[in-house]
Amino acid sequence: MKIFENYCLKENNTFKIRVVADRFIEYDSDDDIIQFLQSNEKLLEDKFLVLGEGSNILFTDNFKGTIFHPATKKIEVEQELDNNVIVRVSAGLIWDDFVAWTINNNYYGLENLSLIPGTVGAAAVQNIGAYGSEAGNFIDSVTYYDLRDKSVVTLSCKECEFGYRCSIFKTALKNRIIIMSVKFCLNKFPALNTDYADIKNFFGTKTDINPLELRNAVIQIRNNKLPDPKIIGNAGSFFKNPVVNKVKFDSLLLEFPDLRYYIVNDNNYKLAAGWMIDKCGLKGFEKNGVAVHEKQALVIVNKTGNVSGHDIVKFSEYIQNKVFELFKVRLEPEVIFV
Ligand code: EPU
Repeated sequence: MKIFENYCLKENNTFKIRVVADRFIEYDSDDDIIQFLQSNEKLLEDKFLVLGEGSNILFTDNFKGTIFHPATKKIEVEQELDNNVIVRVSAGLIWDDFVAWTINNNYYGLENLSLIPGTVGAAAVQNIGAYGSEAGNFIDSVTYYDLRDKSVVTLSCKECEFGYRCSIFKTALKNRIIIMSVKFCLNKFPALNTDYADIKNFFGTKTDINPLELRNAVIQIRNNKLPDPKIIGNAGSFFKNPVVNKVKFDSLLLEFPDLRYYIVNDNNYKLAAGWMIDKCGLKGFEKNGVAVHEKQALVIVNKTGNVSGHDIVKFSEYIQNKVFELFKVRLEPEVIFV
């Protein structure tokens, strides 16, 4: 375990915001961090945050408290069933390293979630999703340390209350737990999900697609549209795709026949926020070093590399206002402000 004081977080958030945390604790064993916390209870009286790769977070100020950073990286096959395998993965493992491992070991299901930045623990918190798949569909259970009750708890998939980029870890259990490991239930036989428009277009008439080809296609599609945070600071989609009811949806469709959307159910429609921002003419729009990405308008980038979190918040409010003016729909950030 390593403990740093006055630690610069620039390399620990993909927006590359230069802020300082009072304390930064990196640990590679869950037992170590639990023991440490049990003998340093006072630490939790201050603010604290569990930070993975910092790929979905926007620091708006210096962090006055302690950051816990898991560097736990185990993958253990717990159970082989006829059609499935149960795998326990440490919270600190890089998500895409895990996806690559599944395909190398002939365990399937996560292909569409290739190359999503972040850690395995964060994937559960955020219920990451892309190209028609969500992590929650493959999660069997999540084990965490409850800082309030000082106990290790395991929640079943149902108890995790996974929703669109949401889980119980962002609601009732927020600021209360440290995720230790996530158990996945994967397929032993490929069942590929190639229905999403970008994937269909990529393969054209080709039908005999294998899991590695699907993973490579997703990697190529993402690389073409989404900026690499190693090159330009960003946190993927900045806003969630807003969900509207049928009355609102019908009136929008009348006014904007080219509206892009997904049907959630009979009364709910999810609108493509990237398309809405694009429709406002904001693709590539730049102000004070912050910009709307020129290939995917849902992504906000730290173009000069020197902007503050506050600059990005201001910029995002400008985007929200422009979208509201045109569509009378309010975009909500997907990125978490700290
Ligand atoms: N579109 C535009 N202009 C744009 C951006 C998008 O016209 O500038 C249109 C696209 O052509 C498409 C529709 O809007 O018809 C939706 O765009 P896209 O397929 O790129 O997906 P998205 O809804 O913008 C979501 C996720 C992404 C995920 C992609 C692919 C959210 C908030 N975002 O984006 O997730 O990679 O689908 O599955 O749900 C993330 O969460 O950080 C993220 C990148």
